Amino acid sequence: MLTVKDLGALNGKKVYVRVDFNVPHKGDVISDDNRIKAAIPTIADLLKKGARVILMSHLGKVDWKKLKKGEKTQEEIDAQMKKNCLHIAVEPLKKHLGAALGHEVKVSFSKERGEELKAAVEALKDGDVLLAQNTRYQPGEEKNDPELAKEWASLVDVFVMDAFGSAHRAHASTYGVPELLKAEGKPVAIGYLVEKEVENLSRCVEVKDTDRPYVAILGGLKVTDKIQVIDTLLKKCDYIIIGGAMSYTFRKVLGADIGDSFLDESALEYAKKCLDEAKGRIILPVDSVITDSFEPVEGRKIMVADGDIPAGFQGVDIGPKSAALFKDVIAKAKMVFWNGPMGVFEQEEFQAGTKAVCEAIRDLNGKAFTVCGGGDSASAVKQFGYKADFSHVSTGGGASLEMIQNDGHLPGIDIIR
Ligand code: 3PG
Repeated sequence: MLTVKDLGALNGKKVYVRVDFNVPHKGDVISDDNRIKAAIPTIADLLKKGARVILMSHLGKVDWKKLKKGEKTQEEIDAQMKKNCLHIAVEPLKKHLGAALGHEVKVSFSKERGEELKAAVEALKDGDVLLAQNTRYQPGEEKNDPELAKEWASLVDVFVMDAFGSAHRAHASTYGVPELLKAEGKPVAIGYLVEKEVENLSRCVEVKDTDRPYVAILGGLKVTDKIQVIDTLLKKCDYIIIGGAMSYTFRKVLGADIGDSFLDESALEYAKKCLDEAKGRIILPVDSVITDSFEPVEGRKIMVADGDIPAGFQGVDIGPKSAALFKDVIAKAKMVFWNGPMGVFEQEEFQAGTKAVCEAIRDLNGKAFTVCGGGDSASAVKQFGYKADFSHVSTGGGASLEMIQNDGHLPGIDIIR
């Protein structure tokens, strides 16, 4: 695979860089700018090589079905999204990007398509940056529309993929554009962020004997999504620890009462198959922190349940016995892959389980290779101050899971390969 390093001088060249600036923000207040910072080495190197850099990213989701027929201009999408309390215009990120790049770099902004984009690209000089509007303002983006990809590809000479968080999406900006440029014999490469992600996550895919015991820790809300990855992890890992919301589906299979806890009915059969196959290698919580109200209302009851959870209560974190059990398993690991918090860590009362996993990683003292697979667990690791204790914290939640699930393959990276 070509990387940014392999691209020689780029004076006069227009370089399309797909970044993942899908950051949590409200207007120009960004609560976690990790993804922007992580893309800077690639952008800075391209600028040093004399390139004219065009940055393309999505931000949030546009629900096209919800938009009334005809409401498809940029302004209408903005208005609709504001109504839904989502802020998806990329423009406010420009200030932040400018500061991260250094104020001597000229950063301009344009619409994501059409004459305005074309003129903005033409106006670039060597060493300038253009940030384009949210790629998802175009209904063709997620459908990998060939006309849209053709328009974007026609504007540039080189493509660089540095959006690891979006590499599991075969969209026009992540797949269609590099596919066309490659066919035209133009250079397509990965950036430093993607290179680092591939290097680290590949170690969790092609497992060396010296990296065993290999322990995976799964949790979080997206139960159905993650249950599928267990199949692959069962083949690769020595132990799979399952906490968070998805654990209640497994405990139900084992005959436990789970009260009002989250249950993924459609995954019950699959969970049973996994438990049968695992032959004791899936480690589940033995106790839970439970509450009668998920909302932090005054007077709500919070307690620890050993085993069964009574009706009217739901599990919202692993309990202290489970934390100790999980810590023991992690202490023996030579490699750890973690995706998904153990409880509702956004609420202080339910943070202990997720913190316990962070502490167990810290206590390995760098003696194991440890990866946090992005998403909510990466936010928790950062929030609790344990980022430096991990060998690698990924910028892609869905992408890192899919990379493991698909044995190292992601469409947005395979097309470069
Ligand atoms: C992410 O945040 O996981 C990536 O930016 C991909 O976003 P998506 O799930 O909306 O495609």
